Amino acid sequence: MHHFHYRNGRLHCEDVSLDAIADAVGTPVYVYSSATLRRHARVIAEAFDGMDCLIAYSVKANGNLGVLKTLAAEGCGADVVSGGELQRALVAGIPASRIVFSGVGKTRAEMRLALREDIHQFNIESAAEAEVLSEVACNMGKVARIAVRVNPDVAAGGHPNISTGKAGDKFGVPWKEAEALYARIAELDGLSAVGVDVHIGSQIDAITPMQDAFLRVVTLVRRLREQGHEITRMDLGGGLGIPYRAEDNPPPPAEYANMIREVTEGLGVEVILEPGRVIAGNAGVMITEALYTKPSPQRNFLIIDAGMNDLMRPALYQAHHDILPLRERPDSEDRISYDVVGPICESTDKFAAERKLPAIAPGDRLAFMSAGAYGAVLSSQYNARPLVAEVLVDGDKYAVVRRRPAFEEMIALETTPDWLS
Ligand code: LLP
Repeated sequence: MHHFHYRNGRLHCEDVSLDAIADAVGTPVYVYSSATLRRHARVIAEAFDGMDCLIAYSVKANGNLGVLKTLAAEGCGADVVSGGELQRALVAGIPASRIVFSGVGKTRAEMRLALREDIHQFNIESAAEAEVLSEVACNMGKVARIAVRVNPDVAAGGHPNISTGKAGDKFGVPWKEAEALYARIAELDGLSAVGVDVHIGSQIDAITPMQDAFLRVVTLVRRLREQGHEITRMDLGGGLGIPYRAEDNPPPPAEYANMIREVTEGLGVEVILEPGRVIAGNAGVMITEALYTKPSPQRNFLIIDAGMNDLMRPALYQAHHDILPLRERPDSEDRISYDVVGPICESTDKFAAERKLPAIAPGDRLAFMSAGAYGAVLSSQYNARPLVAEVLVDGDKYAVVRRRPAFEEMIALETTPDWLS
């Protein structure tokens, strides 16, 4: 469900024409719908209604402050994986008491920042990290509330590059080593083990692998309690998939929530969730303009002004994004098969192969749908291209929430060594 639709033959985000935004801001540009963000946050909150549940939006999916403030106003907490994301969440007004800190490689400086702010929970991913966090917390006279992220050895996720819960993945502590680690943590000062954490992957399109993983965590919680650990929280990560194509059919949030309700029934735990994509994915599009068409005997190239530096997902995960022209084209029109490519000097700078589109002419604008999650956050200045701009729409209003930097700003962090000046 999202708020991008044709109105009078023009693609709109809520009540704003995307052409108007492209005219004013230029392309490429990401456009986010506040109504869609709010709706997704509410649908998830309602699905878990009545449960002791913290919805910690996964900032990595889209950390734009406009997006974070919109979600903060809906009562979302945050799942962060760096000191930078933690600071973003705080700047956006998300209280530290609703922030969890995940990630395999937290530095001492990041731990100190999170301890100073007294965040809700650290998700620990190795024995070595537990030792360091204990040392940092003791030096500060603090106690860190922690959960150990366990690797349940369950395969899930839309692509091998985004699966995280199989044995051999770098994430979490092997399932069988978890009890020994909790025993060790109990001996360490400065740590209080309050929970168990799991996250098995992203763009998961079936309930069963998640259920399998969560049931393993429930078993672990019971065993840990028998061993005297006061486990009061279960962090079940993110990962729920979204429809990228009309025929995609990921489990609806209500089904996901009911499964979690059943799995945790009677356990008396606070459930923490870290949804990213399911909140932001279909709340954003990337607008681009066609530059050239280049027919060749083998392929019919459509060259656009967005590159893989602006939207990495197709290059990184062979991800599919629907492409819609901003000006509606009748179904009766013939479709042409295009390889849609960007201007970057890399063969991987390809958004789609043999994609059927109505005939596109230079100057026509296109929307890459479902680009709100893992879109702008993954963008770079590769090929000395300015970082892509971002716009937030709310009803009939819009605002540029990240402007395109000027060339001078792009080089402002660089200095000339004295032997070259
Ligand atoms: N929690 C943890 C510990 C995670 O690693 C992730 C995502 C999430 C929560 C949020 O997962 P979500 O609900 O968004 O599926 N760049 C890739 C996706 C990488 C996901 C990384 N971790 C993509 O564009 O598909």
